[in-house]
Amino acid sequence: METKIRATITGTGSYLPAKILTNAELEKMVDTNDEWITTRTGVKERRLAAAEEAASDLGAEAARRALKEAKVKPEEIDCLIVATITGDMPFPATACFIQNLIGAKNAAAFDISAACTGFIYALSIGKAYIESKTYKKVLIVAVDLLSRITDWTDRGTCVLFGDGAGAVVLEPTTGEQGIHSIYIGADGALTHLLHQPGGGSRNPATAKTVADRMHYIKMSGNEIFKLAVTAMLDSARKALDQAKLKCEDITLLIPHQANIRIIEATAKRLKLPVEKIFVNIQKYGNMSGATTAIGLDEAYHEGRIKKGDYVELVAFGAGLTWGAAVIKWGK
Ligand code: UT7
Repeated sequence: METKIRATITGTGSYLPAKILTNAELEKMVDTNDEWITTRTGVKERRLAAAEEAASDLGAEAARRALKEAKVKPEEIDCLIVATITGDMPFPATACFIQNLIGAKNAAAFDISAACTGFIYALSIGKAYIESKTYKKVLIVAVDLLSRITDWTDRGTCVLFGDGAGAVVLEPTTGEQGIHSIYIGADGALTHLLHQPGGGSRNPATAKTVADRMHYIKMSGNEIFKLAVTAMLDSARKALDQAKLKCEDITLLIPHQANIRIIEATAKRLKLPVEKIFVNIQKYGNMSGATTAIGLDEAYHEGRIKKGDYVELVAFGAGLTWGAAVIKWGK
């Protein structure tokens, strides 16, 4: 019988831009206050990329850190997948910019678009490449600069978002560690609940689309909130079932950080104690697909996941898209 090959994470990295925007500073920009933002969302501050930084700059730094940790040279990478909705340009792919910045000259390079679930979608592709023996070393970068598409006059959205990048290196193993299961799903009937209407082929950029503020994030917060809890719960359970595991087998759940109340409601329904839930929303807000990638990097470096532990990622976002991944930690 052929030996089962799994994709395992051999290096993680993240990069957060230096500039911090606090709730106190936001109070001066829109009609809001620290108390409302903290209690309704859990966010205290978020990071903003510098004017000269684009997605590829943040993503390249996260990638360099992941490669260093994995002890993999850039030219050894076979495939570079970037999950983003705020790439440097509509085309070419941000993966191509990152490939050049880090010197991954032997890698195929492409982007995927699954918003906040982007990292988990990208992991599912990397996993398939490794298990099918198509590629041996896959670099995955999840990066978003949501500040660039945030309407800073809309208090219903601008308090939530931030910028950041996370990365992982995937390699094959015949051991028990690695990605045990990934479940991903979508509902394209609900695209209107969270979108950036301007700038694509539906509404190409014109002076009118700019005047109508169509290049910013539009979100129906209340509807999304309810759907988020159901979809995260369902995804977390499905990925656990696929891995033939129970909730209590998980050492740490790393949920997408859209709202502390969504995280707490999901954890409560999964009957997970607070110490098993990773939370960093207070520092960074919601960074779309980068959130779970950064969460994984921070959780590992803070010593919250150790070799042999099961960690689960779960996310939900525009599309709508959702998904979860169960990983037996191998580092
Ligand atoms: O990344 C994945 C996708 N995104 C999400 O999962 C986000 C999901 N949604 C949410 O997190 C929440 O719905 C929000 C944080 C966006 C909004 O919180 P909410 O508790 O659903 O508030 P709401 O929209 O029902 O508004 C309640 C009140 C309203 O005032 P009135 O009409 O009751 O007088 C809003 O105008 O809060 C007001 N409000 C604010 N007040 C102060 C809304 N935003 C703010 C604000 N500061 N920033």
